[in-house]
Amino acid sequence: MTPDSDVFPVRPEVAASAWINETDYARLYERSLADPDGFWREQAGRLDWFKPFTSVKDASFDGEVDVRWFADGVLNASYNCLDRHLATRGDQVALIWEGDDPGESSSVTYREAHEQVCRLANVLKSHGVKKGDRVTIYLPMILEAAYAMLACARIGAVHSVVFGGFSSDSLKDRILDCGSNFLITADEGVRGGRRLPLKANADKAVAACAAVRHILVVRRAGGTVAWEPGRDLWYHEEMSKASPVCDPEPMGAEDPLFILYTSGSTGKPKGVVHTTAGYLLYTALTHKYVFDYKDGEIYWCTADVGWITGHSYIVYGPLANGATSLIFEGVPYYPDHSRFWSVVDKHRVNIFYTAPTAIRSVMREGDQWVKKTSRATLRVLGSVGEPINPEAWLWFHEVVGEGRCAIADTWFQTETGGFMIAPLIGAFGVKPGSATKPFFGVRPVIVDHNGQALEGACEGSLCIADAWPGMARTIFGDHARFVQTYFSAFPGKYFTGDGAQRDGDGYYWITGRVDDVINVSGHRLGTAEIESALEAHPKVAEAAVVGYPHDLKGQGIYVYVTLNAGESPSQALREELVKWVRQEIGPIAAPDQIHWATDLPKTRSGKIMRRILRKIAANDVEALGDTSTLADPGVISDLVGGRGKGG
Ligand code: WTA
Repeated sequence: MTPDSDVFPVRPEVAASAWINETDYARLYERSLADPDGFWREQAGRLDWFKPFTSVKDASFDGEVDVRWFADGVLNASYNCLDRHLATRGDQVALIWEGDDPGESSSVTYREAHEQVCRLANVLKSHGVKKGDRVTIYLPMILEAAYAMLACARIGAVHSVVFGGFSSDSLKDRILDCGSNFLITADEGVRGGRRLPLKANADKAVAACAAVRHILVVRRAGGTVAWEPGRDLWYHEEMSKASPVCDPEPMGAEDPLFILYTSGSTGKPKGVVHTTAGYLLYTALTHKYVFDYKDGEIYWCTADVGWITGHSYIVYGPLANGATSLIFEGVPYYPDHSRFWSVVDKHRVNIFYTAPTAIRSVMREGDQWVKKTSRATLRVLGSVGEPINPEAWLWFHEVVGEGRCAIADTWFQTETGGFMIAPLIGAFGVKPGSATKPFFGVRPVIVDHNGQALEGACEGSLCIADAWPGMARTIFGDHARFVQTYFSAFPGKYFTGDGAQRDGDGYYWITGRVDDVINVSGHRLGTAEIESALEAHPKVAEAAVVGYPHDLKGQGIYVYVTLNAGESPSQALREELVKWVRQEIGPIAAPDQIHWATDLPKTRSGKIMRRILRKIAANDVEALGDTSTLADPGVISDLVGGRGKGG
């Protein structure tokens, strides 16, 4: 579909009852840009402050890049997500847990969640965790993951959640990078009927992390695990001894709330740092207005808490709004392809938020899996993680939503904290494949190669011209890298790494990454990371990784491998390399295609020409473009001839 495609208008009954309608959006958006201090000062009233702020926005994208919001205010994120709701909604369900096995589910009220978080906060304190310390969380999708995040927030410890699908090596790197000395994990995770050896991975990781004093272990699956007395602690034993009373630590608005590692163009994953007040306000506001969340609704985001979507839109945003948020341990295909929709019916879900890759995977199994369920409670459907292809969008709309649900395609990033471009479902019509228009306070600009801002309908690199409260403040331990990564390509602007089009109606269409980041099933991976994992293999001389179009995953991982002299390609070696990458990084980084290359196309200065590798991977070899700068143009014909052999 092209940018001129049809608009699906807001249904009148949705507009009539929405928090924000079209007129409100226009007025508030304009105000948010014209008077950011006034706009955000008012909005910040939706948080509870221990000490009110006097300054609102204090931000510069130039030079050192210094961003502060509400800097002299004092508050606590866990207090805002729990305590302040107790008087009015203590008995309301805060979190619903749906286990991998459809026979297992539970729920906790705000009062119960508050008690669990206070106890856990006391457990952390009793083992010496202090304000400012980093705590690594490596858990499956269980209630304890949310408790752990909020318990850290309660005492001012900075959490670093590591996705449970990452390998022990990836976990180790992340523990070492942020210098964390306390790890929370589970015996095993359970997904799609299979067990994930979390504690065993944690043991391996921690063997190389001398600073880690304790591993707190949730008993989830009941399997036998290795145990190091003194270091290892059972969660249930510690919790039963802990007091249920724990005062929230007064935190400065700009005190770090968490670190979350994400992949970039170069080097190892970087620890993106989010701070307290701006992040919490921004996630709460976006959650409420984009989905038009109303009191009492059941809201379900299928992301893992190991990603930013899980942080912002399972835990912080929804709980700050006093919502009921569902945590799902399982997968869409287990025990059968109706799972999403049977969970929707079981818990009477009103707002369902998932990723295009998940939509495509259930779509290809056929409509019957959807149609045998009711889905009558659904009102809003959301999508995030990668550009959604119009075919999947239309299927989501017509089949899942039966044409009556609003669709919110939400564009954001780990670094942006919350939604940047997304429809406010009561405010404006949507176009399949477009994330629509900017949220309050967001000033998108599309620039050309020279950094020139383009006007009107255009295509180029997507930047954001001014600070918003939810943005990351730095990269842990490396502010220079923060400045270099996001503010050097187009000085004075935050560069997203994404390309975008803007159409004549002012709608934005994200076209995908323009840097060396690939997006596999909505998971962000750096090609450099996968390359260095492969190059660590004793038989590999050189590797180059690119993304290529993949029907289900959006992008697949295509790897060019040059072997050391004396080594020869084989199916066994191919399998060995795939297994190697799974172990080095995690299953999400496993190559889809391996292309044995005798040589890689390089410029005379030795730089790999990825543009050409991308085209060959996509089987788009007709128009390889200018190859005259190659040191050895003959490499190309060998590569084109080798395509598909061995992949
Ligand atoms: C991509 C995930 C198109 C984009 C929230 C971005 C999207 C990267 C969308 C961030 C969307 C995310 N439409 N592309 N609705 N949402 N992306 O940090 O390339 O894991 O830069 O955050 O995902 O990935 P991250």
